[in-house]
Amino acid sequence: MLRGTGHGGGDARRRALRSSRRRLPGWIWWLLGIFLLVGLMLFVLHHNQKEQFRPPVVDNGSEMEEVPREKVNFSEELLSSTSFARQLADQMTLAKAYVILAKEHDNLQLAWELSSQIRNCQRLLSEGAVSGRAITKDEAHPIISRLALLIYKAQDSHYDISTTIVTLKNHALALEERAKAAIVQSAEFGQLAAESFPKNLHCLTVKLTEEWLRNPKHRSRSEENRNSTRLVDNNLYHFCIFSDNVLATSVVVNSTVSNANHPQQLVFHVVTDRIHFGAMSTLFLINDFKGCTVEVRCIDEFSWLNASSSPLVRQLSEVETQGYYYSAGSKNPEREIKFHNPKFVSLLNHLRFYIPQILPNLEKVVFLDDDVVVQKDLTQLFSIELHGNVIGAVETCLESFHRYHKYLNFSHPTISSKIDPHTCGWAFGMNIFDLIAWRKANATSLYHYWQEQNSDLLLWRTGTLPAGLLTFYGLMEPLDRRWHVLGLGYDVDIDDRLIESAAVVHYNGNMKPWLKLAIRRYKYIWERYVNISHPYVRECMLH
Ligand SMILES: *[C@@H]1O[C@H](CO)[C@@H](O)[C@H](O)[C@H]1NC(C)=O
Ligand SMILES: *[C@@H]1O[C@H](CO)[C@@H](O)[C@H](O)[C@H]1NC(C)=O
Ligand SMILES: *[C@@H]1O[C@H](CO)[C@@H](O)[C@H](O)[C@H]1NC(C)=O
Ligand SMILES: *[C@@H]1O[C@H](CO)[C@@H](O)[C@H](O)[C@H]1NC(C)=O
Ligand SMILES: *[C@@H]1O[C@H](CO)[C@@H](O)[C@H](O)[C@H]1NC(C)=O
Ligand SMILES: *[C@@H]1O[C@H](CO)[C@@H](O)[C@H](O)[C@H]1NC(C)=O
Ligand SMILES: *[C@@H]1O[C@H](CO)[C@@H](O)[C@H](O)[C@H]1NC(C)=O
Ligand SMILES: *[C@@H]1O[C@H](CO)[C@@H](O)[C@H](O)[C@H]1NC(C)=O
Repeated sequence: MLRGTGHGGGDARRRALRSSRRRLPGWIWWLLGIFLLVGLMLFVLHHNQKEQFRPPVVDNGSEMEEVPREKVNFSEELLSSTSFARQLADQMTLAKAYVILAKEHDNLQLAWELSSQIRNCQRLLSEGAVSGRAITKDEAHPIISRLALLIYKAQDSHYDISTTIVTLKNHALALEERAKAAIVQSAEFGQLAAESFPKNLHCLTVKLTEEWLRNPKHRSRSEENRNSTRLVDNNLYHFCIFSDNVLATSVVVNSTVSNANHPQQLVFHVVTDRIHFGAMSTLFLINDFKGCTVEVRCIDEFSWLNASSSPLVRQLSEVETQGYYYSAGSKNPEREIKFHNPKFVSLLNHLRFYIPQILPNLEKVVFLDDDVVVQKDLTQLFSIELHGNVIGAVETCLESFHRYHKYLNFSHPTISSKIDPHTCGWAFGMNIFDLIAWRKANATSLYHYWQEQNSDLLLWRTGTLPAGLLTFYGLMEPLDRRWHVLGLGYDVDIDDRLIESAAVVHYNGNMKPWLKLAIRRYKYIWERYVNISHPYVRECMLH
């Protein structure tokens, strides 16, 4: 069973860290041992060679050329555990890793020194490969010793090996992500994505909207539902989802109820935009989700969310900002694909900062993004002790270096004077909110404050996470990471066991499960919560 209090989470993290520290030195010692052994062998070999084979006097350059050393197979030379070529190649690999690390830590001098030795090393190796001769000790020695010194310096200065591995993994992931983003943006795949997403989902939206308009009893049933006392009953378990994606929202609700022990005790508060309101309402009226309660509301109902009360709305209505969001959107393939009105996207996205206003009678609520799949009973989340904090979230700084400085502009005095840059980052997508604590802390006012400070977009560029990190700074309770496993929208290497153990998996990233370019490995996790035998789904999805 998942327990997610801060202490539990902290202990688990520390344990994980400790055990990884305990494990890692094992192979490091092993590696060092081998290096030592190889070094010793080389030393011995060389001494023998010098004494037995060296011609007594060789001091004629031209003669050196005329008497070539024995030709060697350079591939074999590189594999041989005793060759200098091998030793150089190994050291070069390590050095390359430290270049990345040094750059990451802004140690440009070290990175430059390492790079220049790597270039020397590459030159020597390619000379060897071209001429097909073994690399001699005299050639290799200066490079090896300089590299060894630099690597020692790098190790000594700050980069312990567990940090190294994590950083390298992240670096690889980032590269992968970038490569994929490039693919998504490339003409062919961009087209594919643009075709697959809007056509299928648009088709579904249109069919559901038709049904909504054709059948007036849907509207009256929807209004009846809105009067249900269950919507304000604090003995039930409340969830909120803000989305304009009908199918994705149905998957979130369906997966949540399918894995709940008592689905009838769950209440979902869905908020969507005007365009999708009819379709969203119809979807939840014509399908049964195990007797849970679903309320669908339109963002336009919130008259309190207006330009005079919310800096975000004000900023969005300013032409300049709209221009900014729009141009940022066009750089973001996912947004471009969605063809959304950026104003609605941003407003729906930012509704998470207005939950107490949207649900004024509630005390606790779980927020779910529309790109998640729930795999466990989430009702236990409601009994986690938040220690007076407003939000419960999983931290993201252990796996990757996602600390506050990654998201915010710490050159700006407003940020640097109030915030510690090393604070651990965390994730939106599956969060428990204590709305009583929220109101007490005036967190929405804090959000307004930061949103206003960022009117010139100097503190952060875009998105809701930076605003969230600032708004809930010091008000966040870390949860056990298994509550929320991230990365299914970009990371192709997530451990199956981690996914299996996750209460919620999150397809953050561009490769959403409803797109053709979804990561195939993770697609079924989402797809199995779609009722493909439903006529609308079948008609829209299968071509
Ligand atoms: C060096 O080699 C050249 C020609 O290959 C030869 O004429 C000369 O005598 C050599 N010098 C020595 C010191 O061996
Ligand atoms: C060199 O060694 C590799 C592996 O042992 C072998 O595949 C390759 O054919 C060899 N090349 C030559 C030119 O002998
Ligand atoms: C819902 O409640 C409001 C007032 O609370 C009432 O005017 C309305 O008729 C009710 N609607 C339904 C369908 O019961
Ligand atoms: C704007 O919102 C505030 C409170 O949030 C409310 O008092 C005011 O009436 C709203 N204005 C309009 C025009 O709806
Ligand atoms: C960060 O803040 C500083 C100080 O206001 C500003 O000069 C700089 O342009 C900002 N950087 C970004 C990337 O917005
Ligand atoms: C929240 O706002 C109210 C009134 O606006 C104020 O009285 C209270 O002190 C504020 N609380 C905090 C923690 O800032
Ligand atoms: C909900 O998910 C189940 C699989 O757990 C699936 O059989 C069912 O068709 C889905 N229901 C809807 C309404 O999508
Ligand atoms: C899937 O949809 C079909 C057609 O609407 C319906 O008969 C069936 O009960 C649904 N299956 C589930 C598991 O909800």
